[in-house]
Amino acid sequence: MNTPEHLRIFARPERHGLRAAAGALYIEDVALTTIAARFGTPTYVYGAGHVLAQLEALRAALVGQPTLVCYAVKANSNQAILRTLARAGAGADIVSLGELQRALAAGFAPGVIVFSGVGKLDAEIDAAISARIKAIHVESQEEVAQVIARARALGQPARVALRVNPDIDPVTHPYLATGLRESKFGIAMAEALTIAQAVIAAPELELVGIACHIGSQIVDAGPFLAALGRLREVIRAVSAAGARLTYVDLGGGLGIPYASEEATVDVPAFGAALAAAMAGTGLELLLEPGRFLVGNAGALLTRVVGRKVGEDRCFVIVDAAMNDLIRPALYDAYHAIVPCVAPPAEASAALVDVVGPVCECGDFFARGRTMVVPERGELLAILGAGAYGMSMASTYNSRPLAAEVLVAGDQAAVIRRRQTIEALMADERMPPWLR
Ligand code: LLP
Repeated sequence: MNTPEHLRIFARPERHGLRAAAGALYIEDVALTTIAARFGTPTYVYGAGHVLAQLEALRAALVGQPTLVCYAVKANSNQAILRTLARAGAGADIVSLGELQRALAAGFAPGVIVFSGVGKLDAEIDAAISARIKAIHVESQEEVAQVIARARALGQPARVALRVNPDIDPVTHPYLATGLRESKFGIAMAEALTIAQAVIAAPELELVGIACHIGSQIVDAGPFLAALGRLREVIRAVSAAGARLTYVDLGGGLGIPYASEEATVDVPAFGAALAAAMAGTGLELLLEPGRFLVGNAGALLTRVVGRKVGEDRCFVIVDAAMNDLIRPALYDAYHAIVPCVAPPAEASAALVDVVGPVCECGDFFARGRTMVVPERGELLAILGAGAYGMSMASTYNSRPLAAEVLVAGDQAAVIRRRQTIEALMADERMPPWLR
């Protein structure tokens, strides 16, 4: 049987944004057991230091190439995370009015915010133009007409970038590939010049960039370089047509290790390759990482509520569920799960399914995992949960949203209090005939 994963994670915890000391796991200087004791479970806990270190690693890799790292707010939109990144000089990539308001409230300057998304509403475009964000990333001829109309109505010009679909296979989960011909995103390569000409001809608009986003959880520079190659074709054509571009945006998608043995991106090599491929363009490079910045900064802490011994495996039932972290159910995603205190060395491992209490077979965090069967009441950490964990959470089964805690050094603070059942029901109303 395989060795239990906690042995590898306790040996190299920093890969998952953690630290190990005296057989216990820490986020920075705070033990995970302390977080659970103070704030209860299930709780998301994030380390600010890891977020900042990831941002710095990316910037350092691109030194010499003017770069703006625009954090993809959807990955984790808690305002404390946003402010941490805004203060460190990151920009923001937003996809809705809600994300625009969060980004502005958290302290991002409008000039470092870009607006992606495939179906923008008039009200969202109005807010983006009024706030004077860096650019709206348009996705179609129709959307160009929509932005022109809104700019005219507001009497204010709008900066736009074209999001093209470079038709590149990012080699990832099919739900996470967004830059393929068949995906709904972006402008087809063949149409890019025509649409650019419409933008250039419109006095209300200024064409400032060319963008793409090819997918997520990509651990190799190859697909990014291929996409940049295609974008450079568009840049040449569009510049010849009279556009004065200022930036090229390669989107997000940089992957992270979820399993203890998984490869990591060679960030310095990635940066050097991108910088080389940008040489001579004279353009600023934008990147829109979400997961890379916050994914391994976060863990979901959960307590074992019970165990059940099945025919060929043991079910470990925990107090977190698919409503808190839907990635395993939705993408069959792998998240490492470890005890927050190392079990005794002689403890034997078994095949375990870690499941939540929700009434769905899809409510699992791990299936057929080799681990030391935890005791009832024991604290587990589900790793790699900083991205697309809380931001995709729901209240399914009327389970209140979990608490979120941010750690910086030896400080830990609640950045979202645990939802109350009253708050969960607060927006519901009885129609008159049922009162
Ligand atoms: N930029 C755009 C335009 C995007 O659509 C996305 C993600 C990103 C940037 C950031 O991608 P990242 O660097 O985080 O991979 N819920 C899925 C991921 C969906 C990503 C959607 N778009 C998951 O849990 O894996």
